[in-house]
Amino acid sequence: MTLPTHLLNTHLPLGDQRTGRFYGKDILSVSQFSRDDLEYIFGVAEAMRTMVAHIGTFDLLKGKILANLFYEPSTRTSSSFLAAMERLGGSVIPINEVRYSSVTKGESLTDTVRTLECYADVIVLRHPETGSAAIAANAARKPIINAGDGIGEHPTQALLDLFTIREELGSIDGLTVTMLGDLKYGRTVHSLAKLLALYRVKVNYVSPEILRMPPELVAQLRKRGLPQTEHTTLDAVLPETDVLYVTRVQKERFENMEEYESVKGSYIITAETMKRAKPNFVLMHPLPRVGEISPEVDDDPRAAYFRQMEYGLYVRMALLAMVLGKA
Ligand code: CP
Repeated sequence: MTLPTHLLNTHLPLGDQRTGRFYGKDILSVSQFSRDDLEYIFGVAEAMRTMVAHIGTFDLLKGKILANLFYEPSTRTSSSFLAAMERLGGSVIPINEVRYSSVTKGESLTDTVRTLECYADVIVLRHPETGSAAIAANAARKPIINAGDGIGEHPTQALLDLFTIREELGSIDGLTVTMLGDLKYGRTVHSLAKLLALYRVKVNYVSPEILRMPPELVAQLRKRGLPQTEHTTLDAVLPETDVLYVTRVQKERFENMEEYESVKGSYIITAETMKRAKPNFVLMHPLPRVGEISPEVDDDPRAAYFRQMEYGLYVRMALLAMVLGKA
């Protein structure tokens, strides 16, 4: 039964009102967000951070169920969505290893999603194919949150990355952001660059020649007025960098292992690199890392990658609350 709007808005506690600009919406790409949307999300994420610090777990999403559907490995995205739902009082159907689901019997993505929405209120999906989240969203009545679709996008990571920059440096406008590593296959940098185009920032890309940022994305962002430069070494841009965003060279995306061998280990951030960086810059990484940041750097206060993961919890709590109409 659908309650009349006047009852929803006047007779239920605030947390039961099903309203808000993201209520019932899919989160598929960062392209769907305006700068105003981002401020709204970050405001809710700030509130979640405060609530977790003060009371840990609360019942905003009590009775709601999340299906966590992962066709690719994940530690952070999968467990932070699970933790986010549980911190909000909801529960989770975890399908972290589709090998043990009916996917191995040949069930299609759309049938799997249609099945899970019979049991859950929202579905978080990670899948190896670009565009898979959009296909799932087309088939589903319930909100789909894209947790990474192949080399396409990773919108919730980009949101948490931007939230990290804002929390660590106070603002985003006026910064120089340098992205380093695998910029060809790295979905996190594709999504982050698109979001940064909403701000007054400069972006430097540092990568091996064969792992450059996709030229069509660079051209698209240039048209939107984002200043971008491309380099093969970090030296020239490190002194001006406020945010250094390091990425892993992703072995699993290469068809030719000789190519992978030729570029793995191209860049390693060490204590010596940190000496040449600005005193108030931040070093970020979506993780996992496989050698591109030396562990000797971990205790440097400018190394933000572990805090970055925690910010992800608050952003994902905010997104779940918003798509379920409770923020
Ligand atoms: N950053 C990120 O997406 O990590 P996981 O692959 O562990 O989810």
